[in-house]
Amino acid sequence: MTAGKGGNKVTSTVNSIDIPNIQRYHFEITVSGSSCNKYPAKQHARNVAARLGVTTGLIYLEGMPTVLAEDSDQPVPFRQRRYFYYLSGVDEPDCRLTYDIKSDTLTLYLPSYDLRHVIYNGQGLTPEDALHKYDIDQARYVDSLSSEIASWVQQHDLSSDIFVLHASQTPPSTNGARVDATRLQPVMDALRAIKDPYEIDMIRRANVISGLAHMEVLRHIGKMSNEAEIAGLFLNVCTAHGAPNQAYEIIAASGENAAVLHYIRNNQPFKNRQLVCLDAGAEYKCYASDVTRTFPLNPKGEWPSLEAQNIYRVVERMQEECIKRIKPGVRYAHLHVLAHRIAVEELLKLGILKGGTVEELLASGVSTSFFLHGLGHHIGLEVHDVSEKPIMAQDDGEVPSALAPTMMRSPCSLSAAPLEPGMIVTVEPGIYFSLAALQKAKTLPIAQYINFDVVERYLPVGGVRIEDDILVTPDGYENLTTAPKGDRALEIIRSSH
Ligand code: GLY
Ligand code: MN
Repeated sequence: MTAGKGGNKVTSTVNSIDIPNIQRYHFEITVSGSSCNKYPAKQHARNVAARLGVTTGLIYLEGMPTVLAEDSDQPVPFRQRRYFYYLSGVDEPDCRLTYDIKSDTLTLYLPSYDLRHVIYNGQGLTPEDALHKYDIDQARYVDSLSSEIASWVQQHDLSSDIFVLHASQTPPSTNGARVDATRLQPVMDALRAIKDPYEIDMIRRANVISGLAHMEVLRHIGKMSNEAEIAGLFLNVCTAHGAPNQAYEIIAASGENAAVLHYIRNNQPFKNRQLVCLDAGAEYKCYASDVTRTFPLNPKGEWPSLEAQNIYRVVERMQEECIKRIKPGVRYAHLHVLAHRIAVEELLKLGILKGGTVEELLASGVSTSFFLHGLGHHIGLEVHDVSEKPIMAQDDGEVPSALAPTMMRSPCSLSAAPLEPGMIVTVEPGIYFSLAALQKAKTLPIAQYINFDVVERYLPVGGVRIEDDILVTPDGYENLTTAPKGDRALEIIRSSH
């Protein structure tokens, strides 16, 4: 462990605590070559090598290059390649990395010095800066990459593999070495599905920022009159809290627009619409949050109609019943079916569904005309994060195929592995009144189970979705999402009036 006297130049890493009049110190703790206060790139690299099951070889990854927009001299917004980030923690363009498995050496290659770049964009990272900032063993300018690869190949006598993600991202000067473009990605997908404490912390922070932004929207919704104001305020709060990037495009869908799952126009006046479905999540240090809240547009914080309240309560029950069952070993696909069962029970009570028992209706798949998507997905470096490639379906017959639309993602898919500690999944049931889905249903045998006259009354509700990010813990779960919902959200709207 090393402790350096930092004086005023070095900021405390615990930046939420201000200690006036006390000299600040900067602590850097190093444990067997891996630095605790940095992104745990080295540990990730070691885990990948171990899971590849090899003791020798070279992992080579290319970071995202600078890309100009078509017919323009302006770069498109930079977004780091996630597999590269996972092994480097580097969120900068034009970098590469190698990990020599046998010598356990992680090397970062930085873009070469470019005077024009320095004049326009400022001094880029030097190898010295990079060594200080990232959990790597060596840093070089990219100019030396080709000769270093050639020398590695020569030393390894063509007997070891160079592992790459895609054949199109092969290093220079491989000189006949074996390049394996198939094994790396599935290994990294499996590892990325289980989050380590650092990653959990980032997703937790992303959720806290999203929570603050959702809260601000609730406080101001009574004075707003257009979806654009919601999206603008949300982005403003996230940016001010150190999260300028969103994990996905903000969905601020009022009234019937909420029936469009990924509605991103966000420019409609509220007029006399009832509810807004706000699906918005900050990204923090490349890690996503994914949070959906649905609440009334009226400043009194009251349910605008019995129909709106009814549907909210249905979705609330779907979410609560599913979240409370989350623990290791549970098959998420079964929760997806449970959510459908609750939807069928409740929509029968409301008279929206008719003409059969719960079992008959569930087996018919009629609820997929209202609950239009999977119950959730993994979340991490991607909002819809990767996970181990599904091993072919071990369908145990408990999941009616009518409830398994092909577009469902892992962990919703029937073939997905059971939940494990360290996974973070969303639980995001919804009930929608989508004209497109209902028109389609009218042409199918399931039409017999839908009371279209009652549905007519529910059309202005548009859609209700509630979404939280849930960490699977060794003995259950922890809800990482802090944004207010349900009665608490209504209370905030009311008290801000
Ligand atoms: N929040 C957007 C989605 O999960 O698709
Ligand atoms: Mn989601």
